Amino acid sequence: MSGGLAEGQFGAWLRRIRRAEFEGTARIRTEPENRIMRLALYQPDIPQNAGTILRLAACLGVGVDVIGPAGFDASDRNLRRAGLDYLDHVEIARHVSFAAFLTARRSAPDPGRLVLLTTAGDTAYTTFAFAGGDTLLLGRESAGVPDDVHAVADARLRIPMRPGLRSLNVAVAAGIVLGEALRQTGAGAGS
Ligand SMILES: C[S@@+](CC[C@H](N)C(=O)[O-])C[C@H]1O[C@@H](n2cnc3c(N)ncnc32)[C@H](O)[C@@H]1O
Repeated sequence: MSGGLAEGQFGAWLRRIRRAEFEGTARIRTEPENRIMRLALYQPDIPQNAGTILRLAACLGVGVDVIGPAGFDASDRNLRRAGLDYLDHVEIARHVSFAAFLTARRSAPDPGRLVLLTTAGDTAYTTFAFAGGDTLLLGRESAGVPDDVHAVADARLRIPMRPGLRSLNVAVAAGIVLGEALRQTGAGAGS
């Protein structure tokens, strides 16, 4: 019993509050945000992985920033070989360096958060609240990202793995976290 309510009334009141809370949450989760999410590849060094990520981005309706220098010839022609004709369906922004990428973000009206995926992340991606304008930054296959990039990110997320194993393939990591981010926000262009 609480606040002068009889036991039955209290239960009904609690159920109403819980239903309202649930409906509020459901509304937030099912209304897609207008802002499109992005993926960013930090100095990618395996063209097949970059191609797989570009295909993922094309299919799920997110843009991609490719941050150089890449470990391979990242010309359209070369990427097209890995990303096939999906490349015609993805918006790609190229940056010669991480500094140039940051400069481009600074000049954007509302760049959103930079969310780094890293095996050294302090937060499991499953507990993170994603937002429509987030950019998910992926490290290079050989070495992840350097400390200064790690420090500049607004959040650092890890995908929990079994102990003793090093890391996931970068395209697999992108698919796992982008899937959860779009589930939460609906901020892709898919239907
Ligand atoms: C092959 S991993 C890089 C491994 C690198 N030695 C390191 O420790 O970052 C390539 C990228 O995939 C992503 N990645 C792979 N496994 C991950 C995990 N368990 N959690 C978060 N990101 C992961 C990260 O963006 C990482 O930089």
